Amino acid sequence: MYKKIFLDAPNVGELEKKYLNNAIDSGYVSSVGPFVAEFEAEFAKLLGVKKAVSTQSGTTAIHMVLHELGVGKGDEVIVPALTFIASINPVLYVNAKPVFVDIDPVTWNIDAAAVEKAITDKTKVIIAVHLYGNPCNMDQILRIAKKHNIYVIEDAAESLGAKYNGNYTGTLGDFGCFSFNGNKVITTGGGGMIVGNSPKKLEHIKFLANQAKDRSNESYHPEIGFNDRMTNIEAALGLAQLKRLEGFLKKKERFNEIYRNELKSIKKISFQETLTNANSSYWLVCILLKDIDIPLLQSNLKNKGVTTRRIFMPIVEFPPYKRYKNHDYKNSYRIYERGLCLPCSTLNSEDDIYSACKILKGCLR
Ligand SMILES: Cc1ncc(COP(=O)(O)O)c(C=O)c1O
Repeated sequence: MYKKIFLDAPNVGELEKKYLNNAIDSGYVSSVGPFVAEFEAEFAKLLGVKKAVSTQSGTTAIHMVLHELGVGKGDEVIVPALTFIASINPVLYVNAKPVFVDIDPVTWNIDAAAVEKAITDKTKVIIAVHLYGNPCNMDQILRIAKKHNIYVIEDAAESLGAKYNGNYTGTLGDFGCFSFNGNKVITTGGGGMIVGNSPKKLEHIKFLANQAKDRSNESYHPEIGFNDRMTNIEAALGLAQLKRLEGFLKKKERFNEIYRNELKSIKKISFQETLTNANSSYWLVCILLKDIDIPLLQSNLKNKGVTTRRIFMPIVEFPPYKRYKNHDYKNSYRIYERGLCLPCSTLNSEDDIYSACKILKGCLR
């Protein structure tokens, strides 16, 4: 029998149970309750920003930001072809047009040169996704955005704790959106967070997310709002997880070191690379394999307890997005076809990661 080595399973323990009990005992289980404000405040403090607004999910966070920016019909949003579907769906929720560009073959993130070429007078936003926790080249993206007067939304769903030029991802663009889905760096079960450089816009998002409920007269709703709030239960979980974040990040960084050391002699393997002025969250450590049948390798690994996941399929492959495919997206397809995400859950021990390397090497032999 092989021990199961987890890909991205959540690490929830005693501290979380204590905070959850506290929330339940307080009687505040829904969207009212002290944990929501405390989680937002602690999150903002950690990232060094003035304000953070919690949401129901990372998807909701991106949707709320696009809505707040007034992005809609006739507007174009530049996005990477390789990401999780949730980075892109909000663009269609607001009836804007996603303009897909290819990714950089080294970082696997949106290619700044391709972004610049894709800009038209309809471009309103660039969504920069820090894929698998690896920071985008924000200097280039912000320079282009400034030159053309375009907003930058960072999709930091996978990159909590990652840094670029010493600053946390999510705090570099106009807005940063985070996810606390069960498989992310920290979890609230399901949830998200928005940070940004406009306290006024964040305040308005908070208001809209709470059914646009008037503060002075709670039965009055002056705008069309949303029910996109985080609950006190979720925030209790989030606060406990936030206290453990540093430990999670250290562990993930160590897993990355182990993978690189143990697999460096295998010629068939190369890694997603991080820019020299950045640190990844190492949400998932991902590799490329040359001349290997990836599904077969995955199934062999699974039989020996090692859980892996294929790289995201380029979004232009999906029926609602095929009509936006306007070139070959060669890097995105190559990485999808050859790539593999390795086990990085903090439930694993360092020994588990050494075992995963040994088993992988055995399967490749
Ligand atoms: C890159 C990326 N963007 C957005 C999301 C959406 O987050 P959520 O699942 O919390 O809606 C996720 C994760 O699911 C993601 O990986």
